[in-house]
Amino acid sequence: MQTKDPIGVFDSGMGGVTVVHTLHRLLPHEDILFVGDSKYNPYGTKTKAEITARCISICDALIQRGVKAIVIACNTATSACVPLLRERYDIDIIGMEPALKPACEAGPHQKIAVWATNFTLKEKKFADLMQRFENEHTIYKEPCPDLVQLVEQDRLDQKDEIDTALRAHIAYHPDVDSIVLGCTHYVFYRQALTKILGSRVRLIDGNEGTVLHVKDLLAQKNLLNLSGTGQIEWKDTLAGKEALCRSLFERLEESK
Ligand code: SIN
Repeated sequence: MQTKDPIGVFDSGMGGVTVVHTLHRLLPHEDILFVGDSKYNPYGTKTKAEITARCISICDALIQRGVKAIVIACNTATSACVPLLRERYDIDIIGMEPALKPACEAGPHQKIAVWATNFTLKEKKFADLMQRFENEHTIYKEPCPDLVQLVEQDRLDQKDEIDTALRAHIAYHPDVDSIVLGCTHYVFYRQALTKILGSRVRLIDGNEGTVLHVKDLLAQKNLLNLSGTGQIEWKDTLAGKEALCRSLFERLEESK
């Protein structure tokens, strides 16, 4: 394995583009190979066995391409099978986790809504995480499958539709201190959410924490690329969706 090898990133679809964006911002010399699994999106409604089979197939393909680490840029896939993937492959496999800890660290007796897929919220991984914090804080679970589909269907420009969808989810738990964006797709809604909520509610996602973890792991193995040109290669299991990856990435660049 060499420093110039790419980092593999995959997601059930377009949410992983937000992780690629953070990765490219914080580690600009790394080459990135992204795979969106749009053909099988959404993962949130699939069984654990189905999601695991997809993850293995994508990781096998990434390993064949010689990646030096794999980021599972999908909370649902991480909940389904990260231990199994770590056992199966020799390279570092980095997953996502709803960023509940930073939300709880904001102060005592926090009220927090965790937005994620039904699958993520029902899995043991999240139950264990919640158990660590629920004695002191009030934590609400809010499944938002519709927010995945609005991104997948390239409807982020439909401002009224987005506004209505976001307000409907906010209305279930209106008086929270923080919303944890526990699905990488939801990071696309940061600006729209801030417009509705102002600075009253903190919006917390796990992208930066995950990328800093990737950086640490690569540094420990002397695999950090400090001089590359930082190329990004977009691939998707549905023909034509690469163009949407690129345009969503550009949208994030513009909103920096
Ligand atoms: C989905 O495919 O249902 C969303 C996956 C996720 O990022 O949790």
